[in-house]
Amino acid sequence: MDHVRTEHISLRPVLLDTISSTNDVARELVSQGAGDWLLVMARTQTRGRGRRNRSWISPEGGLYMSLTLRPPLADLPVSLLTILAGCGVHCAIEKLTGLSVCLKWPNDVLCRGLKLAGILCELMTEPTMMVIVGIGVNVNVRAGDLREELRGRATSLLEESGSRLRVEAVAGRIISEIASRVELVENEGSYSSVLDEWRSINCTLGRIVVVNDVTTQQGLAVDIDDVGRLVVQTDEGRLIAVEAGDIEYV
Ligand code: BTN
Repeated sequence: MDHVRTEHISLRPVLLDTISSTNDVARELVSQGAGDWLLVMARTQTRGRGRRNRSWISPEGGLYMSLTLRPPLADLPVSLLTILAGCGVHCAIEKLTGLSVCLKWPNDVLCRGLKLAGILCELMTEPTMMVIVGIGVNVNVRAGDLREELRGRATSLLEESGSRLRVEAVAGRIISEIASRVELVENEGSYSSVLDEWRSINCTLGRIVVVNDVTTQQGLAVDIDDVGRLVVQTDEGRLIAVEAGDIEYV
């Protein structure tokens, strides 16, 4: 794949074979002067990272990519870009496969309750303000190729749809969906359309959740606020805004 061309953007990806993590390579390239809309893709990763220091198992057949973006509205939190990327990945997968998928806060992409894709956004402030949007999608991966602890918790596009997709096609579609949303946010000067989209495609609101952060709390997920935090009404009736924790459904 020489170029990824979408309606909104044309970029030339850095295609690599086996590397530690596409987020690390993208970070290194930004340190050396690369700008935004840099795309790093790898066939496999030896040290793929997930949120909260988990590892991201990266066998052949999956999509592992990192996109560099300047936050569209610089004074707003990066967590909003995470929400935006989640909406882009969700929409790309539905359009390509017709599968019914949903977002678990903040941006795990689930199909039948099993994880299909994950997003890890990392902020760089030096030498320039940049967000590394790391995206992993289980495309042509067999459930049996995933590590034992993930079996029964993760799935793939191949397992769900029964057909193989070109990993590059999935990447191109995701980038196109992200680019159109970045443009929307820039034009509107706000994330409100993206937040509304998230509200319409999530499978978290209305559920009882356990929030594992510094402390563990339980309550009803009632909304996301204007910076993408999950608003939870605790059993005592208090409203808390969860910024970065992990949630589990009860
Ligand atoms: C999560 O669900 O915890 C986020 C997973 C993000 C995985 C992707 S794969 C490409 C990029 N490189 C990494 O090391 N992680 C992200």
